[in-house]
Amino acid sequence: MEIDIFTLFPQAFAWFETQRHVANLIARGHRLGYVNYRDHTPLTAGQVDDTPFGGGAGMVLRVDVVESSLRARYGVDPVDLRSERRVLALTAGGRLLDDELVDELAGEPALTILSGRYEGFDERVLEHFAGDRVSIGRYVLAGGELAAMVLCDAVLRKLPGALGDERSVVEESFSKALRGAPEYPHYTRPAEYRGWRVPDVLLSGHHERVAQWRQAQSRSRERAGPLP
Ligand code: ADE
Repeated sequence: MEIDIFTLFPQAFAWFETQRHVANLIARGHRLGYVNYRDHTPLTAGQVDDTPFGGGAGMVLRVDVVESSLRARYGVDPVDLRSERRVLALTAGGRLLDDELVDELAGEPALTILSGRYEGFDERVLEHFAGDRVSIGRYVLAGGELAAMVLCDAVLRKLPGALGDERSVVEESFSKALRGAPEYPHYTRPAEYRGWRVPDVLLSGHHERVAQWRQAQSRSRERAGPLP
């Protein structure tokens, strides 16, 4: 997969690239690239944002700056780019990122992620350049960089070769294998700690019963709702 992240802070991703699953994929030929809007602004003094028409607090990322950044990277009109590759704009009001959307994105050969700052994007970026508007939750971040990392983390770990054991991504919370339900509880050694015992079935070595117990736990967690 090839992912291009448009951002004012490409340096924020240095740590992200050191994460094992991300580094594994880069070593296998997947690519993460960064475009700094500031390097492509047509305005003097590196300006990328402006005050909102109609007044109000904060600064808005300009549509002409986003356009020239996209043109510099792809050499086409960004309006047409959407039909060539998946262009996602990160914004608090977008489609909520969930396992279904993550699976969908993990099937794409290439992603373009537009990360905003300040009050966000000029609406024309969202309307004309972005194919999807994606939110990682109903709260507002100071910028899209953390949201971009969350999205990339969730998508990349689904790709073959990212994790040590491919089974990790099959039976996990909200996956198809668990019919969208939360994952069952996990335990490891010691089998008893401060009197808290691991359920006997997990120590039984009886694979069939372990599988049944896990499915039942997953279903009862779904009925109970989110963990308190
Ligand atoms: N930018 C600011 N807040 C955001 C959010 N919750 N999700 C995605 N991008 C954002």
